Amino acid sequence: MSISFDKSTKTFYLDGKNVTYAFFINSRGFAEHLYYGKKIHHDFYLYTRATGTTSVLASAPGDAGYKGLFSYDSMSPELSFFGTGDYKECAVHAGYKEGDRLTELLFDGYEILAEKPKISGMPSLDGGETLVVHLYDKVKDFGADLYYTVYDDCDVIARRVVYTNHAQSEVKLLRAYSFAMGLAGNKYDAISLFGGWAKERTPERVALHHGVFSIDSKQASSSAKLNPFMAIVGKETTETQGDAYGFSLVYSSSYILKAEVATSGETVVLGGINDFDFTWTLSEGESFETPEIVIAYSEDGIGGMSRAFHDAFREHLIDKKRVKSPRPLLINNWEATYFNFNYEKLAAIVDAVEGTGIDTFVLDDGWFGKRDDDSSGLGDWYVNENKLSGGIDRIINYVNSKGMKFGLWFEPEMINEDSDLYRAHPDYAIGAPDRPRCYSRHQYVLDLTRSDVCDYIVNSVNTMLKNHNIEYVKWDYNRNVTEFFSFGRAPERQGEFAHRYALGLYDICERIVKGNPDVFFEGCSGGGARFDPAILYYFPQIWTSDDSDAEERTRIQYGTSLVYPLSAMSCHVSAVPNHQVGRNTPLKTRGDIAHLGATGYELDTTKFTDDDKKAVASQILEYKKMENLVLEGDLYRIDNPFDSNYFAFAIVSKDKSEAHLTCYRTLCICNAETHRVKMQGLDPNKQYYIPEKQMILHGSTLMNVGMPINFPKGDYMTVTYHFEEK
Ligand code: GLA
Repeated sequence: MSISFDKSTKTFYLDGKNVTYAFFINSRGFAEHLYYGKKIHHDFYLYTRATGTTSVLASAPGDAGYKGLFSYDSMSPELSFFGTGDYKECAVHAGYKEGDRLTELLFDGYEILAEKPKISGMPSLDGGETLVVHLYDKVKDFGADLYYTVYDDCDVIARRVVYTNHAQSEVKLLRAYSFAMGLAGNKYDAISLFGGWAKERTPERVALHHGVFSIDSKQASSSAKLNPFMAIVGKETTETQGDAYGFSLVYSSSYILKAEVATSGETVVLGGINDFDFTWTLSEGESFETPEIVIAYSEDGIGGMSRAFHDAFREHLIDKKRVKSPRPLLINNWEATYFNFNYEKLAAIVDAVEGTGIDTFVLDDGWFGKRDDDSSGLGDWYVNENKLSGGIDRIINYVNSKGMKFGLWFEPEMINEDSDLYRAHPDYAIGAPDRPRCYSRHQYVLDLTRSDVCDYIVNSVNTMLKNHNIEYVKWDYNRNVTEFFSFGRAPERQGEFAHRYALGLYDICERIVKGNPDVFFEGCSGGGARFDPAILYYFPQIWTSDDSDAEERTRIQYGTSLVYPLSAMSCHVSAVPNHQVGRNTPLKTRGDIAHLGATGYELDTTKFTDDDKKAVASQILEYKKMENLVLEGDLYRIDNPFDSNYFAFAIVSKDKSEAHLTCYRTLCICNAETHRVKMQGLDPNKQYYIPEKQMILHGSTLMNVGMPINFPKGDYMTVTYHFEEK
């Protein structure tokens, strides 16, 4: 890994594990993008840029001798701005005291820092050597510092911007993105992940066109609708080969990512905090820090891009203490009881898992306040003694007496109208003057832009954690903000709401999650609606979806894996008929699919037959054998359930000494053609023992000849294989 500056061409070269990123400072002082891709030698790549047509383009400001050779409209930006002749989407749009909104940010020096600085108040990847390029608008005394970090163990670059107002008058940021980046050429497809409740993260691939392709959230949450991720891939790029650029924003509130195909024949990608319903006022000397964008590159197609993200997030984002350690193997009571439980019922669920290997019991929604259904109690984080006679310690002690850990559900950001908290502080709930609020699941969102509200949440959750032996927390977030307004904030500052919500969220996560390092925290959002890298910084795993049907989960987990490692996905074995879709799938299949993540169980274990219990115990033994691969291995997606009757994931250890393959078939077809799977990611020269086949084969054979997969008769069947180096 290295960052260097060639003074003769004013080019910055950033070399990572297998990637090179390069840009230069042109004659005007503009930071012009040159290259991002496979690692290459350091030449001056300017000759590769398209010149395009220049006849009707604007000159740079004040450039009277303009000969049509220099116009911002035909430049490939590192950070683009408005009002200087570039009519493409800009990354910065700022308003000044005179009412003008023009910016020209030019080179004003650089530094190379030994350590990557943290963003104040926001999560980001850690890292070493970091380039900071200072850009400055001399007319307005407005600065932008561009931060770049490359890594020697993963193929990503991390970027962000710090905008600073050095003038005596205020600057209003109307748009303050995290980056812009040019890509040579215009023949690309975009891949995004759309979805909704119980159908999170479905990949969608469309052709880029002249004009702007964009995805966004306006929900003050990263949202299930569109994950804060976009890939730009070559037309010919497949799962296994071709150029793939991935853009993943470390952010949990309203965001936007765009790709614009320009007249010049170039493509510009940019984005960050959504500028819809956004303004931010900077007084003299104040700075605004943007969230970080992680940009992955692979020449090995979409699969290679995913592995780059998985490595980056596991090595540099997720809590080091947790990321590669075995996760709690839990039984959760939600689908077993919903709100209808008491001490005896919970104790019976715990009794029924004895001897299976399940080590944690998680008490879900309904234990607090006056909470008998979803219409009351949120905000009152003290025990409902009517339901749990003897208090929460009675059930905790019982769980602990069985040698198990105890976990508890919270929804810290929410409030019901029917709660003691609302009766005392109705203004804590987000709302707007003179308008009724929108309900969602009978609840409102607490105003995390206010420090007194954050303090209330931190105190009430931390009091529970301090006073009881709670070793695991499921942190839920079941609705989105609707009224973007904060009581008490100045009218001209209301456009800061969505970003301030994110800052409030990160503040309470710092004080609750990081403040209780011995408690394991899992993220959740009405299923997997807030599944983003910033949440992963605090929560090593996130509940992937409320849809726990094994068939549907093959697609949800496939889509999620485009960006996020398997260990980030919380996946449970649930009951049949499945509560979301009514489907019956075999227990083995439910186990095999749930074991492709941080696994657990969520069903009424008191209904287990002796055979079920034995099956669960042996499933867990099997899981333990592959757990290190789930936590640390490289993922290869072999069969895609979106376009076939099959799903197959292979996970290979980093040293290629071990692998696991899970194959799944949706429908059984009589007299079907042979289904062959060619392994990926093995060492071609190593020999592997496959216990299920009692065979020893070379990696080259397994990857080139493949294996016919013999599924048992029946729909929704799985077959799994292990590969051990001989
Ligand atoms: C959300 C979660 C579920 C469960 C319920 C409880 O829907 O995704 O797993 O915790 O809330 O109300």
